[in-house]
Amino acid sequence: MAKPPELVWLDNLTPKSTRFDDTYYTRENGLEETRYVFIDGNRLIERWREGQSVTIGELGFGTGLNFLAAWQAWLDEAKRQTTSQDVEVPSLTFISFEKYPLNKDSLAKALSPWPDLSELAHKLVEEWQLTHEGWLKLRFGSVTLHLYLGDAADGIRTIPSPIDAWFLDGFNPKTNPDLWSEALMQSIYDASNPQATLASYTAAGWVRRNLQSAGFSIAKRKGFGHKRDMITGSR
Ligand SMILES: C[S@@+](CC[C@H](N)C(=O)[O-])C[C@H]1O[C@@H](n2cnc3c(N)ncnc32)[C@H](O)[C@@H]1O
Repeated sequence: MAKPPELVWLDNLTPKSTRFDDTYYTRENGLEETRYVFIDGNRLIERWREGQSVTIGELGFGTGLNFLAAWQAWLDEAKRQTTSQDVEVPSLTFISFEKYPLNKDSLAKALSPWPDLSELAHKLVEEWQLTHEGWLKLRFGSVTLHLYLGDAADGIRTIPSPIDAWFLDGFNPKTNPDLWSEALMQSIYDASNPQATLASYTAAGWVRRNLQSAGFSIAKRKGFGHKRDMITGSR
């Protein structure tokens, strides 16, 4: 079975990895940051409004916060469109990788600070079973989660479908360099559709260079809250 994460809980609420010396999400406003960096950074709402089907890829599933935030945003957009004349929102596929999966209790606890997501969190936790390494497929109506339990560098070789929008959400590149390596950035480029985009909270110079040498065009933009920079990119 996959190795467990090494967790401590800050204020008995926010999970922090002692292996990587970093928190899974920002303590005060992790959900807002997810929306700003990953959902807006990949222009997901606009793309859904144009009727595009967007397969999302993520490095580092962690607590599932990004997955639930994307699912909620997709649901909100689908509801908006059923009450208007717009095109129908296509189904959502989310593909993610996790080497050190949280157990069911930790997952439920880590998702408890987000009342907006509680219904979806409950559905995810109910289906959460760490039975084997490799690919798991969880279906939630029109939303499908493919989750690889193991090292992303291995899983990406058998990714079930090409990616349109990447959420690059490893821990701090200083403590988790493997998830930002040149080889892995090349693999995500190779696993992308021609119009693929990416977003990340980090703007570390060597991460940008790894993405650029893989073939992505990278732009810096204002980071979330008090953070100076984040990056977006396109293939
Ligand atoms: C910042 S956390 C991700 C937070 C997550 N996106 C969320 O919504 O909660 C980074 C995650 O990457 C995972 N990770 C680190 N190295 C990895 C690797 N080589 N392959 C797959 N996952 C890895 C960590 O275990 C951790 O769960």
